[in-house]
Amino acid sequence: MGKNYYITTPIYYPSAKPHMGHAYSSILADFFARFKRIQGFNVFFLTGTDEHGQKIQRAAKEKNKDPQSFCDEISENFRKLSKTLNLSNNDFIRTTESRHLKSASHLWDKLENNKEIYLSKYSGWYSVSDEAFYAENEIQELDGKKIATNSGSEVEWVEEESYFFRLSKWEKPLLDFYKKNPKFILPESRKNEVISFVKSGLKDLSVSRKSFSWGIKVPSNNDHVIYVWLDALTNYISALNYPNQNDILYKNFWPADLHLIGKDILRFHAVYWPAFLLASNIAPPKRVYGHGWILSGDEKMSKSKGNILDPIEVIDKYGIDPLRYYLIKEVSFGNDGNISKEKLENCINSDLANNYGNLCQRVISFIEKNSSFKVPKIDKFSEDDLNVLNKFQQNYKNLISYIDNQNVNSYVSFIVDNLFAANKYFNDQEPWKKKSDLKRLNTINYVSLELIRKLSILLYPIIPSSALKSLNIFGIKENEIDFNSIVNNESLIPNSKLLKIGILFKKVENND
Ligand code: ME8
Ligand code: MG
Repeated sequence: MGKNYYITTPIYYPSAKPHMGHAYSSILADFFARFKRIQGFNVFFLTGTDEHGQKIQRAAKEKNKDPQSFCDEISENFRKLSKTLNLSNNDFIRTTESRHLKSASHLWDKLENNKEIYLSKYSGWYSVSDEAFYAENEIQELDGKKIATNSGSEVEWVEEESYFFRLSKWEKPLLDFYKKNPKFILPESRKNEVISFVKSGLKDLSVSRKSFSWGIKVPSNNDHVIYVWLDALTNYISALNYPNQNDILYKNFWPADLHLIGKDILRFHAVYWPAFLLASNIAPPKRVYGHGWILSGDEKMSKSKGNILDPIEVIDKYGIDPLRYYLIKEVSFGNDGNISKEKLENCINSDLANNYGNLCQRVISFIEKNSSFKVPKIDKFSEDDLNVLNKFQQNYKNLISYIDNQNVNSYVSFIVDNLFAANKYFNDQEPWKKKSDLKRLNTINYVSLELIRKLSILLYPIIPSSALKSLNIFGIKENEIDFNSIVNNESLIPNSKLLKIGILFKKVENND
């Protein structure tokens, strides 16, 4: 026990095809999931689609489809995308599945039994695009239209009978919870936003709708459907077979270690979700991380703005690992990031092809010529050798802490610095000039191979299939990759056969 790790992406609205922002969240979640697996954790990684509500009902209507078959079709695109992105998710949940209906209805009953819900009337602003209620001070007028200031999406006036959740009651407990769990919300800057929102006073939250039908019916009153966010958030426990709290999945994985989301939906995850859970006597998740936006120009890339970059087109042209590497390295995690074709191509050429690809290629082909393609014998390590090798054990704890604090940039910087160091080591040692000192030549080759092994292990969560190609030189299979082995400087067995490596990355010509 204690070696389990549960990570989730948001469940995406299948209102249109997936875009780069969705790919971004999913790739980052996969990065963390893969790292924790090679660290030795039993990982459960969940993604899926959020299929109820007015937004989906309207999108289906526009296409003249019934909402269910509309969702079936688009949800399938998201499922396919998760394959294309090489996600290692353990499950893919859809909120129209019966396991989820059962779970969400049960949570509702629990809230109602706990007297956390009452019937009243809602009148106020609603954004269908955000599926969110907004207070008067959160909206403004632009070109004669009322919009939500934060998201920029249009709001409409809603007046209907509605059930309310006693959110106001949870103001103090939430503030206490944030205090006791200072890393519940990250990054720090976002945490402060959330806390001041809660401190400014929470109003009871409308949690049902009566004017449309595409949703999960309120169990005690079938005229209402459950508010889509209460429905959607529950996915994180329905996938663990809630309400069966004795289920092995639930026991192992709840509370979640990390809900990775975009900053646009932080309030739902960091305020409403823990309040719903506390009110149902369920432990809140351990962390919610709200990352920044992928921008197109200065604007958030989004379906409703029509400025999206299609991840599939990018992958068709450059491959999945370059896109993964680029999004993980070049967007400063937690902040907004502008992405461009030029920067992506530069990443491929300089980091992947020149730095990593080149290291693997030249070391391997040199060994093929000089050590008959076997792991050479070590004589003894020199000070230079130990300097490059020991960086890994010296930083072993740091690397884990980078991951556990979602400090993606420091993790990547360590790799990039050490790729440079490995290339420099090979250059400076000049093994090609050591043909009369075979003991030294062999040791240099051995050290270089160890560096490739260690760096490929660290790169695996970022660029899994390319790193696997490199690890295959040593016959290391995916389920054998062990992060803990980066501290070992003598893991390769002398005289064991090496396997060939294909081209890892092709340089991109700057042709347009
Ligand atoms: O909000 N940059 O679904 P959604 C970075 N169904 N990330 C982006 C992005 C961008 N430009 N655009 C979208 C929903 N994302 C709800 C979630 S969870 C219980 C329910 C990512 O399809 C980011 O993670 O609008 C954001 O939070 C999510 O997609 C929103 O996806
Ligand atoms: Mg959205």
